[in-house]
Amino acid sequence: MATLPVRPRRNRATESIRSLVRETTLTPSDLIWPLFVVDGENERVPIGSMPGCFRFSRDILVQEAREAFDSGVPAVALFPALPESLKDPLAKESANPDGLLQHAIRDLKEALPELTVITDVAMDPYSSDGHDGVVRDGEILNDETLPILAEMAIAQALAGADIVAPSDMMDGRVGYVRAALDEAGHERVGILAYSAKYASAFYGPFREALESAPKSGDKKTYQMDPANVREALREVMLDIEEGADMVMVKPAMPYLDVIAAVRANVDVPVAAYQVSGEYAMLKAAGRLGWLDEDKVLRESLLAIKRAGADMILTYAAKAIAVGAG
Ligand code: PBG
Repeated sequence: MATLPVRPRRNRATESIRSLVRETTLTPSDLIWPLFVVDGENERVPIGSMPGCFRFSRDILVQEAREAFDSGVPAVALFPALPESLKDPLAKESANPDGLLQHAIRDLKEALPELTVITDVAMDPYSSDGHDGVVRDGEILNDETLPILAEMAIAQALAGADIVAPSDMMDGRVGYVRAALDEAGHERVGILAYSAKYASAFYGPFREALESAPKSGDKKTYQMDPANVREALREVMLDIEEGADMVMVKPAMPYLDVIAAVRANVDVPVAAYQVSGEYAMLKAAGRLGWLDEDKVLRESLLAIKRAGADMILTYAAKAIAVGAG
C-alpha cells in the first residue's frame, strides 16, 4: 500500500477528537431572543408564517423570558405589535412613557434585572405609513426622522432598556441618538446599531407579525442594496465613529460574507440577525419533513458564528437553549 502521510480524517475519527479540534462552538450565551409583545392578558397569538413564534402579552412575555434566561439566553430584543388605531405618520406612540413597549420593558427589568433588554429604535411598528422614517410626498425624510428616533430611544431608556438598537438606517442616527441619550442622563445605555441592514425580502414574516409592511413603496432608499459589501463596511465605520457599542449585519445566512468582512475590519462586537424569513424557511422545510429542523437551525447558527458573529438574534433562541430545537 502506498503511504499517505497526510490524512485529515485522523482529526475527525471520534467525537472526542472532533471536540478537541473544533474551532467554533455555539452556546445559549451567544443568543438574543427577539420577542413580539401585544396588549392584553394571557395572550399567545400565533404568527402564521413563523411556527413556534407568538405575540405575547406582557405577563406571558415575562414567563417566557424567564425560561429562556434560566436556560442561558442573556438577552431579548423587543418589538411591539400595535393596533392600527395607535399608528400615525409621526409614530407619536413610540415616545409614550405609558406605551405597551415601555410597560413591557419595566415588567421584564423588574422580574429579571439581570436579563439584558434590547429595544428597537425605528418608526415602523408605530407608523401609519409602515416606514422607518417620516414620509412626505412619497419620500422618506432623513433629518426630520432623527428627533423622533431620539425621543423613542429616551422613552425606552427611561423605562429601563439596557441597549437601544436603531434599525431604521437613517443617516446620522447613531450619533444623534447617542447625544440625545447622553443629554438626558442615559450615558450608560448602549447602542447596538443595525449598521448593515439590507433591503431584504426575508423580512416578510416579521412584517406580518407586526402588520408593519410599508403602505406604499419599499425601503430601498434607506436599507442597503443586497448587491453591496464595501458599502456595509462604510456604514459600520460611520456607526462606530458615531458611538455604536456593537454593530449588526442583517439578514445573516445569505450575508455570511458581509459578516466575515465586518468581523475582519472592526474591533467592536458584531451581531448578526437570523431574520424572520430565514427562520420561516427552515421551519417550513422541517414541517414538510424535508429537513431536520433542529439540526439545520443549529448548523445555520454555528455557520453564522463561524463567519464572525459574536452574538446572534434568532427566533429559535429559547428552543435551542432548552434543547428542544
Ligand atoms: C424594523 C425592523 C424590521 C426587522 C427588524 N426591525 C423589518 C423591516 O426593516 O422592515 C426585521 C426582522 C425580521 O425579519 O426578523 N425596523
